[in-house]
Formats: sequence, C-alpha cells, structure tokens
Amino acid sequence: MAKKRNRSQPQPQTNPVDDALARFRPLLDDAGYQAMLDELQRPLHTSIRANPLKVDPERAIQHWRARYGWQVEPVPYCPTGWWVTESATQPSQTLEHRLGEFYIQDAASMLPVELFDFDGLERPLILDMAASPGGKTTHLAARSGDRGLILANDSSQGRIPALRIVLEQWGAVNSAVSRFPGEQFGAWYPDVFDRVLLDAPCSMQGLRSTEAHPMRAITEKEQSALAQRQTRLLESALQAVKIGGQVVYSTCTLAVEEDEAVLDALMRQHPGCFEIANLSSRLPAPAPALSEASGQTFDPAVRGAARLWPHTFGTSGFFAALLTKLRPLPGETAEPPQRPFERSGLEPLKKQEAYDLTLLLKQQYGFDLEPVLLEQDLALYRRGKSVLAVPDLFLTTFRGLPVQSLGLEVGEELPNTFSPAHDWVARYAARFNANRLRLPQELIPAWLRGEDARGFETQNFAKGLVVIVEDEDGRFLGRGKLVQDRLRNLLPRKALVG
Ligand SMILES: C[S@@+](CC[C@H](N)C(=O)[O-])C[C@H]1O[C@@H](n2cnc3c(N)ncnc32)[C@H](O)[C@@H]1O
Repeated sequence: MAKKRNRSQPQPQTNPVDDALARFRPLLDDAGYQAMLDELQRPLHTSIRANPLKVDPERAIQHWRARYGWQVEPVPYCPTGWWVTESATQPSQTLEHRLGEFYIQDAASMLPVELFDFDGLERPLILDMAASPGGKTTHLAARSGDRGLILANDSSQGRIPALRIVLEQWGAVNSAVSRFPGEQFGAWYPDVFDRVLLDAPCSMQGLRSTEAHPMRAITEKEQSALAQRQTRLLESALQAVKIGGQVVYSTCTLAVEEDEAVLDALMRQHPGCFEIANLSSRLPAPAPALSEASGQTFDPAVRGAARLWPHTFGTSGFFAALLTKLRPLPGETAEPPQRPFERSGLEPLKKQEAYDLTLLLKQQYGFDLEPVLLEQDLALYRRGKSVLAVPDLFLTTFRGLPVQSLGLEVGEELPNTFSPAHDWVARYAARFNANRLRLPQELIPAWLRGEDARGFETQNFAKGLVVIVEDEDGRFLGRGKLVQDRLRNLLPRKALVG
C-alpha cells in the first residue's frame, strides 16, 4: 500500500532545470550532453532583431555599435538578428529600442518566421494564431514588408494589451488583433490563409530560464494536456491554411511530447494532407528532430523539423517545423462570429476629407500620405478624433470579424489642425521632412527622460505646432509642441529612457 505523505515533512527542493536535464539525458549521446552542459555554463547574451520597416538593419547596427559601445555577432539564420555580446549601454536602455527600431528577442525565437517563404506573395494573408506578446508578429510584419494582412490572435484577454502595444511600437500597419481560441480558425476559415504561424503555448522546458521563458517544474498531467491542446491548434492551423500554403509550428520547449510527438500525431491523423520540410539544408548546422524517443518511433518526415538544443546555436532550447499543406483536411466548418462593421465605431473618411488631410500633411510636414496608402493598400477611417490607416485586406476578407484593434493611428483631428500620432511618425520618421526641430545636444538626456526643453531659439516654428524633434545626426527623438518659451515633450511614457 502506498505510504501516506506526511504534510509537515519538508519536500525535497528540486530545480526545474536539473529535472529537465535528467529527462533529456537519454535523448543525447555523451558528447552532445556534455556540450549542452558546457553551453549552459555560458551566459545567454541579449539578442536583438532590427526593424526593416524603420531602419536599414545593416547600417543601423553599425550606428548602434558606435553609439552604445556594442560588440555584436550575427544570428546565423536571421539576417536582421544580432547577439549583443558586450555593451556600454544595454539594448533595453536605448531610445531606438523604445521607438521600435529593434526588438529584443531570444535568438531561438528568430527561427520560426525565417522558415517561411514570402517570395511571390504580394499581399500575404497571415494568421499568427497564438501571438502575444507579439515578438514573432513583428518579425512577420518585417518579413512580409507589412503588406497584406496579419491577423494576430491570442485567446487570453490579459495578454491582448501587450500585443497591441508591441505592434504599435513596431509600426505594423497591416495588422489586426483578435481574441479567439485558435482551435476555431480551421472551422471558421478553411483554406484561407497563405501562412499560419503557430507558436504554441507550451511547458517552456527550454533549459534557459529567461524573463520571457521562465522555467518551472511541470507535471505529466500538465504536459499531456498541453500536447492535446497543441495537436488541436496545429490541426486548426493546417485547416486554415490554403493548399500549397505554409504553417510553422514552434515551441520553446524541448519536451518531445510537445514537439516531435505532436507532428507525428497529426501525420497519423491526416496522412497525405501535409508534408514536413527537411530543414537541415536551410540551417547553418544540422539540428534534426528526433526519430524516436521513449520507445516511440516517429514518422520519418518528423526528423526534418529543427530541434535546437542550447548548444546547437547557443540559444535557449527550441523546436520548429515547416509544414506545407497538400490537401484539405476533413473537418467541420462553422460560421465565424460576425458583427456589423459599423459597430466597430470606424467610419471611412470621405474623399474630400482624405484629400484635405493628405494636403495638410504634405504642406505642414512634407509627408506624402498617398503613396503610403497605395503601396500598402490602406484606407483611412475615423474613430472619434482619431484617424486610422486600416488594411484593405481586412475590409475585404474579415470585415465582420470582431477585433480588438485594427491598423495604426495616423493622428488626431484637432480644431484647425491635425496632430500626427507618435507611432505613425516613428514608423515614417524619415519621410517627415519639414517642421523638424534640431534639439541641442546638451538638452537631449533630459528630453529622453521626458522633460520639456526650455531656453533655446524656436523662432522658425509656429507656436502650438507639433514638430518632429531630431538630434544633429537627424535621429528622430519623438514629437514636441511649441508653447510659450519651451518645447513640450510629447514622447509617450513607453518611449522614455532612464
Ligand atoms: C508561446 S506564447 C506566444 C509567444 C508569441 N508568439 C511571441 O513570439 O511573442 C503562447 C501564447 O498562446 C496563447 N494561447 C494559449 N492557448 C491558446 C489558444 N487556445 N488559442 C490561442 N492562443 C492561445 C497564450 O495566451 C500565449 O500568449
């Protein structure tokens, strides 16, 4: 008979990393296991991914190196990613980070979106099924050139605000944020999306405890519940993608039950409906998935997925697979939730209003709105005082779907003028070439802390006007408003440094 546990007896303290290491030990040979232990002794450097929607990544990294005393190393499979191995100023403490010119992201998390092929897709329709806080959504926006539409979905109400903020900060215009269980998309939108990313909720057994991916102990029951949810989500992703379209499945766990076993279960459930790419030739070093574990042999195609042990590329543990849909998956269909678009509170700007706004932005800031709207297939809508640029593709494909946010704010209509929004200006700063005010160098540290700037010559600018503030190198420092004897600081709190 099992002995009753004495509640007052102290339980042995186990470390989740040690527990996980013991479970993963049989999956590696001696040399591999030792290499992993050695790797785990080394610090995990901060890694950043530049935002090509705002900067030229190669040039920007040179500026940041010089400005902040960084030593950098490229992330081998992500052309816009770098490890910052030494720094006088940490990446998180820079204005450029706060302005969304780069995103701080574990290098392993840069892999999944790099796996997608976007060639020949002019206006891709992308679903990011479990998106919050949005690191990979920003990468999707960058890789797709922010054209088409990204539907960034997360089922958790509490995680929607972070997703919205991250997308605004990145300057992603062609995006919408929704809050639904990812399991529903397959039945609601079968064969609709060009690309679906499923960065699945997982047990986070990545062997590196970071702020974004804290490691904690996990029970078998939890793991099995997660694996079941992952299988349902992946099935839904495969249903929702078009024939010939791609799905990337990724997790930040090395638990086989949530990685190879999930792919294998789907291969068995839907034979011939999709193929798994062999990623070995696409990676700088082999990182094959397992062909068997704990007595279970997987479909041979599963081995084509990528299993990143911490020592493979010096990252946290990670798993990613690229799937291409070959045939429709059988399954029920259902009507997606609908609400009359008018209830969203958005109303289109009339032709004359759009013309007037375009003229005002051109005259006041030298900013040409029209080509932006044309290049990116955007339409102008109003909600209250705000004017938003809204993705056309949303209006044509998902018009009735209730969403949490849509597009990006262009600015606010004020009596007799228009105040361009911070995130809009930050996205297109280089195109705002009039009413730029150069802030003297000595005032910049206080300005970046959010203080107003006083006591300098501002005669060239009209009082009450919102101006684009820059330093002597033309670096965007936010917006300011000229009042009386000072320049009021309009940097939002999220952009303040120090
Ligand atoms: C690994 S995190 C996503 C991280 C994100 N892709 C990124 O790169 O920033 C998994 C997310 O899945 C969400 N989630 C959990 N269950 C879900 C479900 N059934 N449908 C959609 N999202 C779900 C969680 O709220 C969580 O935000």
